[in-house]
Amino acid sequence: MPKVLALETSCDESAAAVVEQSDGRLQVHSHCIASQIKEHAQWGGVVPEIASRRHVEALPHLIDQALNDAELPFSDLDGVAATVTPGLVGALMVGSVTGRTLAALHNRPFIAVHHLEAHLASVRLAVSPPSPPYLVLLVSGGHTELIHVDSAGMLERLGRSHDDAAGEAFDKVARLLGLDYPGGPAIQAAAVDGDTTRFVLPKGRVSKPGGGFFPYDFSFSGLKTAMLRQVEACRAWEEPLPLADLAASFQQVVADVLVDRSLRCCSDLKLSTLVMVGGVAANQRLRQCMHARGAKQGVDVHLAPLAYCTDNAAMVGAAALGRLTSQPVFSSLSLGVSARWALENCAPLYQSNPPF
Ligand code: KG4
Ligand code: ZN
Repeated sequence: MPKVLALETSCDESAAAVVEQSDGRLQVHSHCIASQIKEHAQWGGVVPEIASRRHVEALPHLIDQALNDAELPFSDLDGVAATVTPGLVGALMVGSVTGRTLAALHNRPFIAVHHLEAHLASVRLAVSPPSPPYLVLLVSGGHTELIHVDSAGMLERLGRSHDDAAGEAFDKVARLLGLDYPGGPAIQAAAVDGDTTRFVLPKGRVSKPGGGFFPYDFSFSGLKTAMLRQVEACRAWEEPLPLADLAASFQQVVADVLVDRSLRCCSDLKLSTLVMVGGVAANQRLRQCMHARGAKQGVDVHLAPLAYCTDNAAMVGAAALGRLTSQPVFSSLSLGVSARWALENCAPLYQSNPPF
């Protein structure tokens, strides 16, 4: 059954994994991650130059470890996959060049993977993955999108953020509260005993030019500003800052917005399955709310397994195997990397004359 070595280096996690597909089910033989988060934390966010250097250092060891853990020789692999877009160009280049070199050396196909397609594929690593059609809420550090996947697997983006992604809002608000990077896990931890209702915060709707609102779109900039004002007001009369209540109120409003708009979209489109993937999908409060409200509305909620929400290579392997097994497609060894590329336009990644 097809097996691939998959690499992920689009941002601040270097990762390698060996994944196999047999009888339509995915099996992760190994999945290794070297996180650079601690190093970037001292700068309050990802420093691209540092990220590229750390990927160069970590990747060879991760690949060795992934192959050892999987107890498979390279000759048993059917392909090498790497994320090629979107992301930090220098960081992507490390995974892409490594993947292409290994593919050429071992005479195996190279499968270029779109990072968001990999996040979408992460739900296929669950014990009982859903079958399309479904709606996907993709919430990460760079994206907040509602994507319709039809029964043929075709993708259509129905909603998006007009400013920050949800993860970016977590990271910026955490900094405002004096918490560590990445902000999502830090806010989640700070919020544990907090009062979710103490501060009333805006839900950020996006106006349509002719009046009304885009029902499935998001905006987090007003919420960020409201948090800034709240923190300033608190500092004036309360010492120390009511951190738990601020974190809990913020986390709750983000969860409410994401749940409201996703379920509204399911209801409008008469979709009975909702999938949630991406780094922010690791948020426990959001996971609980999505499950509880989905159940009330009769929507079957499928969450990416916790280990595969934040960036990892197993999801890259899952996406690559989807490509390899549906209509065997390979990427050109002269394909480069790109900081941006539309998810709906992945076909050119598998053409003999590549687009970048
Ligand atoms: O998917 P990911 O690893 O990278 C991107 O593709 O962007 O997502 C990283 C984002 C960061 O903004 C981080 O703060 C957020 O996911 N995140 C969380 C949690 N864990 C990670 N946000 C909320 N709650 C969490 N537990
Ligand atoms: Zn990601």
